[in-house]
Amino acid sequence: MNKIRIRASKEYDVCIGTGLLSQLGTLIAQLCKVQKAAIISDSHVWPLYGQAAKSSLVQAGFEVVNYVFPAGESSKNGLTFLSILNFLAENQLTRTDCIIALGGGVVGDLAGFAAATYLRGIDYIQVPTTLLAAVDSSVGGKTAIDLPAGKNLAGCFYQPKLVVCDIDTLSTLPAPVFRDGCAEVIKYGVLFDPALFVHLEHAGIAFDRKAVITRCVELKNAVVSEDEFDTGRRMLLNLGHTIGHGIEASSNFSVSHGQAVAIGMAIVARSSGCADAGRIIGCLQRFGLPTETTLSAQVLAAAALSDKKRSADTVKLVLPERIGSCQIVPTPVGQLLSLIEAGL
Ligand code: NAD
Ligand code: GLY
Repeated sequence: MNKIRIRASKEYDVCIGTGLLSQLGTLIAQLCKVQKAAIISDSHVWPLYGQAAKSSLVQAGFEVVNYVFPAGESSKNGLTFLSILNFLAENQLTRTDCIIALGGGVVGDLAGFAAATYLRGIDYIQVPTTLLAAVDSSVGGKTAIDLPAGKNLAGCFYQPKLVVCDIDTLSTLPAPVFRDGCAEVIKYGVLFDPALFVHLEHAGIAFDRKAVITRCVELKNAVVSEDEFDTGRRMLLNLGHTIGHGIEASSNFSVSHGQAVAIGMAIVARSSGCADAGRIIGCLQRFGLPTETTLSAQVLAAAALSDKKRSADTVKLVLPERIGSCQIVPTPVGQLLSLIEAGL
């Protein structure tokens, strides 16, 4: 098992390895009082891994309750959030009990926000079961729900007590969901790590799961420990996302998040004049990710301008200089259209 210590305002370990679901109870019992644990999961993940997680916790002495909601982004809303809070209250969880988020980014964001707000904050443990959650959403403490006006509009920073990533769970991921996570993995290589990028370029989808997830978490740790609250360097993680979010929204979410981020990365790689644009695009394609869109520059620029992270007259775009080095560039609103046109 690999262990990475996340050095945010609250420190915690991320454990990465195989067979970890059966050790979940013992790992948590080393950190939390052995009382009550509420597993929050979704309707796809619970039938696959719910019993294994529950048995491990029961064996370690926990009393376990579970709440399962319908899988998918459409559940990441205020209604599910309130239902979880009511479930925790009905089951009389106290401040010394804990929540286990068993699932992908949707489960992690919802359960994390519930943990942050229930009784003004109780411990939670992230157990990511998608590649995206393993390398990104389970680490760094961003929690959120969507509002009718947009994604992730309500939430807070609230770090977990522990992250347990059992690589075995990734084996049941539908191929498109796994590929979505690959876009985020490639993003880390482009942002920070030429050696990681070369490994991905050569290995393609057969990349070394444990080594690559570990490296991505180390890279995220470096960013989060420097800028936990996303006011500076952490914004680098938005590479491909500003334009990607526009593609997702303008396609009515028929283009998935990972696909949209891949297209977003390809667009900024081309438009920034990055010498490695060809390699970035080639690597995305090797993973079966799209690098083109039929949406017009006008549509993409309009969508990017509704990004919640824009200021009055600029949009912060992350532009690659070369593999392993990117810059956050405040781009005047007036230049956005031509920049996107150059990348299509
Ligand atoms: P997801 O949680 O919806 O999971 C994708 C699909 O895979 C779902 O149908 C899920 O039920 C299923 N699934 C999960 N694990 C499985 C497994 N092991 N086997 C079979 N099926 C499985 O989506 P995601 O891509 O993991 O996460 C996307 C969410 O994460 C978005 O809501 C996004 O806003 C959020 N996010 C948060 C952060 C953060 O820092 N908090 C970062 C990136 C993304
Ligand atoms: N997913 C981006 C971040 O954690 O900041």
